[in-house]
Amino acid sequence: MNDTSAKKVLLSGVQPTGRPHIGNYFGAMRQYVELQETYESYIFIADYHALTTIQDKDTLADLIFNLAVDYLALGLDPNKVTLYRQSAVPQVTEAAWIFNCLVTVPYLERAHAFKDKVVNNQIPSMGLFDYPVLMAADILLPRADVVPVGADQKQHIEYARDIALKFNTTFGETLSLPEPLILTDVATVPGIDGRKMSKSYGNDIYLFASEEELKQRVMSIVTSSVGVGESLDPETDNVFALHKLFATPDEITELEDRYRTGSIGYKEAKDLLWKQMNNFLAPLRDRRAEIATDKDFVTDVLAAGGKKAYARYEETIAILREKIGL
Ligand code: TYM
Repeated sequence: MNDTSAKKVLLSGVQPTGRPHIGNYFGAMRQYVELQETYESYIFIADYHALTTIQDKDTLADLIFNLAVDYLALGLDPNKVTLYRQSAVPQVTEAAWIFNCLVTVPYLERAHAFKDKVVNNQIPSMGLFDYPVLMAADILLPRADVVPVGADQKQHIEYARDIALKFNTTFGETLSLPEPLILTDVATVPGIDGRKMSKSYGNDIYLFASEEELKQRVMSIVTSSVGVGESLDPETDNVFALHKLFATPDEITELEDRYRTGSIGYKEAKDLLWKQMNNFLAPLRDRRAEIATDKDFVTDVLAAGGKKAYARYEETIAILREKIGL
């Protein structure tokens, strides 16, 4: 299906499973804001996906509202972007069922998220097992051309492409293949322990952290035991890795030099980092506090976005139904 509109379509989303962290921001959310002029954008709150982990009504409602506030605070303009909850477009669950009948169990068993659970001896739910298929529906129903994400979602976009191809070969050319938009420098933002920053590893730094929280988290960044005055390795240092997100190119060069010559210790590097982060994040935090007080505005944005998205998803699901003979 080709769109006649001039702008290409962008789609992405975040799960409402906790406060977003700076990995979510640099890997994905900042792109949503930067690209909102260039693309016809659909940005959603993945609340069906969140059910794989959040199973408490009030907690979920709270997380959904807060993620909507986060999106708006980052600068997503509801006049330019369609902002909505995944559950406002239940067509995705219907499409996921249709796609489920086209993919095999061994194929889904290769998904990283599923394999991680099995390795950790957890028993995955059917929802977790089927996560990539629902995600394919998220992407294919609004007929997305591009999907900005961090590197950890690359495999999921490949699943969406495979599923579109499978549908097309089975029922005739219908769905177009989406492309991932992954920024190399920030494809995997490290957490305070050097592993990928993740809500579930407890190594994250919240994007909307208070000044005190920022300071506390930065001070807990894991470092080597090199003494003051000795040369530090910027290539392997977790503090330096995070500096790169917030400092200007000149500041990075200067810091790198100080690392190598041993003229900076971890204490000073951490102090510099949390202050720089705070300068960057404080305006976002203030805007967020303002938006959070206007509950009606936030609810209205989601309702209007949900209506608009519903119409677009409905067009595609109607075509799928017709193609499969239902
Ligand atoms: P989620 O909620 O885990 O993460 C949201 C986005 O943040 C990116 N990200 C990172 N990027 C760089 N470094 C990191 N350390 C880091 N941690 C997270 C993720 O890659 C993601 O882009 N499955 C998705 C939600 C989803 C979705 C979709 C996304 C559901 N349907 C359709 C795009 C299209 C997820 O769990 O994201």
